[in-house]
Amino acid sequence: MFFKIQKSPKGDLLYIVEQPSELRAVLSKPELEYLSQRWDQGSRLVALNQYDKHVLIAGLEGKADDERAEKLRKAGAKAQNVLNEQHSEAVTIVNLTAFESAGYCIAEGMALGGYQFLKYKSDAKRNRNTLKEIYFDKQSITLKAVHRLQIISDAVGIVRDLVNEPPQYQTASLLAEAFTRLGKEGRFKVQVMQKAKLEQLHMGGLLAVNRGSIDPPTFTVMEHRPVGKAVNKAPLVLIGKGVVYDTGGLSLKPTPNSMDRMKSDMSGAALVAGAMYIAGQLDLPVHLIGLVPATDNRPGQQAFVPGDVIKMYSGDTVEVLNTDAEGRLLLADALHYAKKYRPELVMDFATLTGAAANAIGDAGIVFMGTADEAVKARLKTCGARQYERLVEFPLWEEYGKLLKSDIADLKNIGSGPGGAISAGKFLEHFTEYPWLHFDIAGVSHDIKSKDYRPAGGTAFGLRMLADFLIGYAGRDQ
Ligand code: BES
Ligand code: ZN
Ligand code: ZN
Repeated sequence: MFFKIQKSPKGDLLYIVEQPSELRAVLSKPELEYLSQRWDQGSRLVALNQYDKHVLIAGLEGKADDERAEKLRKAGAKAQNVLNEQHSEAVTIVNLTAFESAGYCIAEGMALGGYQFLKYKSDAKRNRNTLKEIYFDKQSITLKAVHRLQIISDAVGIVRDLVNEPPQYQTASLLAEAFTRLGKEGRFKVQVMQKAKLEQLHMGGLLAVNRGSIDPPTFTVMEHRPVGKAVNKAPLVLIGKGVVYDTGGLSLKPTPNSMDRMKSDMSGAALVAGAMYIAGQLDLPVHLIGLVPATDNRPGQQAFVPGDVIKMYSGDTVEVLNTDAEGRLLLADALHYAKKYRPELVMDFATLTGAAANAIGDAGIVFMGTADEAVKARLKTCGARQYERLVEFPLWEEYGKLLKSDIADLKNIGSGPGGAISAGKFLEHFTEYPWLHFDIAGVSHDIKSKDYRPAGGTAFGLRMLADFLIGYAGRDQ
């Protein structure tokens, strides 16, 4: 989607109002009568005048700002459907409500809701949405906001594309290549460590998971250094789980259904790349590092087996009791690697446990960690504002005991319930800096379309993270 502030309106016109009467000065009498009639009948998106004028009646009264914003995003997704059905190519948004960010939110819902993954459609042209341009009148948005909207909604598309890519076209190496291309476009540095290097470093967690694969693992290091001075002396590190496909390994996931969505097991990696892209494009004054350990997880002749004791990059030994708990093994290596930066804060994003998804479903993200309360509170605010909400789980000591192994330093699964937390406890063992873990298993991928998230990869969490990074960089909201 292309966004711009435009003096003279282009394409269809979309007015956002609270009440039909607010359009007295703009509409003809018959239009206004028709609109009032439809409003009385309960319509909230009304097409006027041979369909080139539309009125969105927002009904925002009495709602908190975060809820209004979300309501408008959803309305934007609906409006986008209507405009595409009418083969409209452009729309100009005019916000007449007192809610300043109404135009932004509607447009965001339009762009995100209009996302399509057509790469493998033979008749892509026929399927493609017509709506490509969203304009605003001068009063409805600021130049800065339009710029931000463009970059963030582009980044959502980039992340979704990465998640939606079929697994045979997205090995660990191909994922690393995609990051390298994105780095060129998005102005951040990308370095890829190949298998030989990982062996030399003894990245035992990542290498163990990779043993059943016919494709080598990769470890991508991304870096954004602002052109000017950064607000942080020590870097902020983002880590993303890059399991390009998770069969469970020899602890094979039961068919028929549990593997269907496992190409999305690199959603954390995609989020990190998306955040690097945003930081680069906005030239955020933060020093930011992105780390992605990547491999697929498969059974194979050489595959690691339940019972193996592996030596991690940190030197710790881990008894593997379930090869499907693979994400924590490669994340642990990345968390250890992060120590060399003496980071101010480390955040990892991972489709880590079905337990997180079972606990809260797809309405939000489970997070936990050792960073201070102020950081957690800021993240929660960003989550609420973007409606990618966060709920904190505890990391009480007792959960750590579940990971005790008789023969190694740790085992890779907890015993009993609380699986999202014991996974978090496992990761915590490999940290020695302020750290937060985001379990995005419940939100990263959906088989059904929902509001402004079409079926497939959602990029859920990216807007929350972008909001946080922008605030971290000291830029106003
Ligand atoms: N990638 C899965 C988690 C997952 C589940 C992501 C559902 C998205 C949707 C992860 O590697 C996994 O298999 N976790 C196991 C851990 C268990 C064996 C301790 C799980 O959650 O079942
Ligand atoms: Zn798994
Ligand atoms: Zn996994």
